[in-house]
Amino acid sequence: MRITVLGSGYVGLVSGACFADFGHFVTCVDLDKAKIERLNKGEMPIFEPGLEDLVRNNAKAGRLVFTTEIEPSVADADVVFIAVGTPSRRGDGHADLSYVYDAARMIGRAMTSFTVVVTKSTVPVGTGDEVERILRQVNPAGDFAVVSNPEFLREGAAIADFKIPDRVVIGAEDERAKRVMAEVYRPLSLNASPLFFVSRRTSELIKYAGNAFLALKITFINEMADLCEAVGANVQDVARGIGMDKRIGSKFLNAGPGYGGSCFPKDTLALVKTARDNDSPLSLVETTVTVNDNRKRAMARKVIAACGGSVRDKKIAVLGLTFKPNTDDMREAPALSIIQALQDKGARIAAFDPEGMEAASHLLQGVEFCDDAYDVVSDADALVIVTEWNQFRSLDFERIGAAMRHRVLVDLRNIYRYDEVERHGFEYTCVGRPS
Ligand code: UGA
Repeated sequence: MRITVLGSGYVGLVSGACFADFGHFVTCVDLDKAKIERLNKGEMPIFEPGLEDLVRNNAKAGRLVFTTEIEPSVADADVVFIAVGTPSRRGDGHADLSYVYDAARMIGRAMTSFTVVVTKSTVPVGTGDEVERILRQVNPAGDFAVVSNPEFLREGAAIADFKIPDRVVIGAEDERAKRVMAEVYRPLSLNASPLFFVSRRTSELIKYAGNAFLALKITFINEMADLCEAVGANVQDVARGIGMDKRIGSKFLNAGPGYGGSCFPKDTLALVKTARDNDSPLSLVETTVTVNDNRKRAMARKVIAACGGSVRDKKIAVLGLTFKPNTDDMREAPALSIIQALQDKGARIAAFDPEGMEAASHLLQGVEFCDDAYDVVSDADALVIVTEWNQFRSLDFERIGAAMRHRVLVDLRNIYRYDEVERHGFEYTCVGRPS
């Protein structure tokens, strides 16, 4: 198969590299010249474990090339994936589809023989219809089929998620396109990952419904954590206890500071808009969005309470800035709102993150960025763990305590136990667990 992927962002790059690793010939296209130059040198524009090796090996084997030239790449391809960004549109929360439609126009102009055009970007229901209309308008005689094939990759685990997926959802009505898509994903049938063929609109909705359900699950356990605090129960045990019921499942029941990232916040908002536009509001998802937004500020209040009711002129050390570990992505990271709220109350912030500080430095003002977990706590009045990077899971509390002004630890990811920390003289606050 000859595959062309338009957009070398997170999804495009991971998908392109993995398709090449399946043995297909893949061309990744991006209009950003500097990005393509870096990729051709084997330098990754994003941090994703395993990606650099995957790209280098497949590029070396001649199965993966990077270019800014759309026309020849599309003309040669059996399948063209659209993997461009769909950011939230300013003002109304709808997904901004202008990049998707631009890509469709470029494909329409460049395609020659039968081409399967696949939207991999997360797009609202009905976008496939519009892509089809644009292709037909630009190229009335063109032979093509438009397919929806959403991605379910988690940042930090994207390559494993791509290669060993729970399922691959393919929204296609055209029989030729279905055969082509089955061929694209043929290597996965070897590890028994099911290809799930549905209608295009259904496929588009599955993506949003999946993310909204996961956001809802996290938000449910976060509210349950608050209740646990109020009644003296343990949210981790509640999560385990309900998760053992296979109908509920144990995953995505870790209470924390609220979900962030480039997907859940944006996709829940876009789904809410779609539902309202279709006079079929999703009140559970709307509530999830509000509860999650409020939660970030509530976490700042938790820190303030742990500091005795005020953080004015106190130094708060923050460990972990990215929206989750193993990524450098700061989009919608809870740390942003928490830090802002603490600064508003007069706190001085020092922070360390293994990968996110470059991005964070553009988003946060007045933060002292430090070299490591031990540097950040110097003279601090409290230490707050916001993101659960593995390297924060076995901190030397004697060393940390000796460097701090006050031994106060707020663990927003529940990675420690009371006894482990209190034995070193720390006052410990976590999420939904009694002392
Ligand atoms: C999410 C989905 O998990 C992917 O399946 C989907 O493909 C992707 O969005 C997307 O639409 O592109 P991602 O945003 O990379 O992936 O990250 P997650 O691992 O889902 O975490 C999202 C947020 O939820 C993080 O802030 C994380 O800390 C939080 N979370 C997750 C919790 O607070 N508790 C949990 O139990 C799980």
